[in-house]
Amino acid sequence: MDIPWVSIGRISDFEGKVVELRGWLSNKRSSGKVAFLIIRDGSGFIQGTAFVGDFFTKDQLDEIKRIPIESSILIQGKVRREERAPGGYELEISSFQLVFPSEEYPIQKMEHSVDYLMERRHLWLRSKKQNALLRIRNVVMMSIHEFLQSEGFILLDSPILTPAACEGTSTLFELQYFDIGKAYLSQSGQLYMEAGAAAFGKVYCLAPTFRAEKSKTRRHLTEFWMLEPEVAYYDWQDNMVLQEKLVSFIVNQALKKCQNELEILERDTTPLQKIQPPFPRISYTEAIEVLKKKGSPAQWGDDFGGDEETMISEDFERPVFIHHYPAHIKAFYMQPDPENPTMVLNDDLIAPEGYGEIIGGSERIHDLALLEKRLEEHHLPREAFEWYLDLRRYGTVPHSGFGLGVERTVAWIAGVKHIREAIPFPRQIYRIYP
Ligand code: 4AD
Ligand code: MG
Repeated sequence: MDIPWVSIGRISDFEGKVVELRGWLSNKRSSGKVAFLIIRDGSGFIQGTAFVGDFFTKDQLDEIKRIPIESSILIQGKVRREERAPGGYELEISSFQLVFPSEEYPIQKMEHSVDYLMERRHLWLRSKKQNALLRIRNVVMMSIHEFLQSEGFILLDSPILTPAACEGTSTLFELQYFDIGKAYLSQSGQLYMEAGAAAFGKVYCLAPTFRAEKSKTRRHLTEFWMLEPEVAYYDWQDNMVLQEKLVSFIVNQALKKCQNELEILERDTTPLQKIQPPFPRISYTEAIEVLKKKGSPAQWGDDFGGDEETMISEDFERPVFIHHYPAHIKAFYMQPDPENPTMVLNDDLIAPEGYGEIIGGSERIHDLALLEKRLEEHHLPREAFEWYLDLRRYGTVPHSGFGLGVERTVAWIAGVKHIREAIPFPRQIYRIYP
């Protein structure tokens, strides 16, 4: 009889059948003549039971009981519906084969510090919660592609090695590029997406970006992934409509496809169920008024940190757009408001529940002379931006785009405090883990 090799994630298709699982021994306990084994294969976890009886002698069972946690194993058994079991199914083990015994596993059930776990990130990924969290990330990534592709966007990959800054020179990672001179790790693919928008209309990149941020907050990584769509002929308002549609789609897909994962993470999904367009919009100036009323010392012209963002977002159940920031606290490429050029046609999207800014976006300067002036004011090297200025020389149009931080979005949806867990191998200012 051929016994099919199946994955635990699909186990419900095999109720009543004998199947083979190929995985690892995640946990175990035993009482007398029964061993309860928690088996994982990456797609899920299932409890298997082995008895002294038809399939195992007492000696064989004793041997099974001694197998160390995280040993690799091949298991055969019958799938049984079991309401009380996590996942709803159990396996009656009829055959057990040790592939390789594990050494004593350094991650035990007891609480470890996050530092201890991060030093063992390569192993921590196997644990139930980390696994669930990164499965949610997978769905977020796939939903981004699904949504944008269905809206007619082209995926246009941006380079990682770049000749210049995009988001300010203070957070650049610098490297020596052969004998040509300095090169930098990309802070943003945006400038390249602007070239792409003029070539393809609607484009996006989804790529790693780098910031030598001195911040040690729970919202900052030195290497993070950013989604950056860019659209020709979109103004700043079209841009916000795209953002609210995209974010709502991602959240809804996660709710639909990650029920199990959200449950493992004990995420209360009530707030997520409220995420749908339209999102509230307030201006920066209105936001300052709100902050003052709430007793914040914030003054017009200040940039917002996490605390201010939380104070503003707590009045809303959906993410909130803050638009029209003062030009002087934002990047060089943002289009000034024609009615009040001290402010720019931009938006930051603040997630609910204290997760802070997940998107920064704007209409871009399309006028050559104005962009040249801005480059000068920001002391940016003209030569490195000649190609970018070309985009304003040859058929320039108003255009807009934004950047969505993947880890912040995943952390919000999954309900985890610190974004370092929302990426497989995080990089932070004070250390590089595995
Ligand atoms: O607001 P930012 O800096 O915008 C840009 O880089 C634009 N060029 C994007 C564009 O318009 N194409 O970054 C965008 C988002 C932030 O809202 C935040 O979610 C995330 O990227 N982000 C970070 N995430 C983790 N760690 C950091 N150090 C981050 N810096 C920004
Ligand atoms: Mg920003």
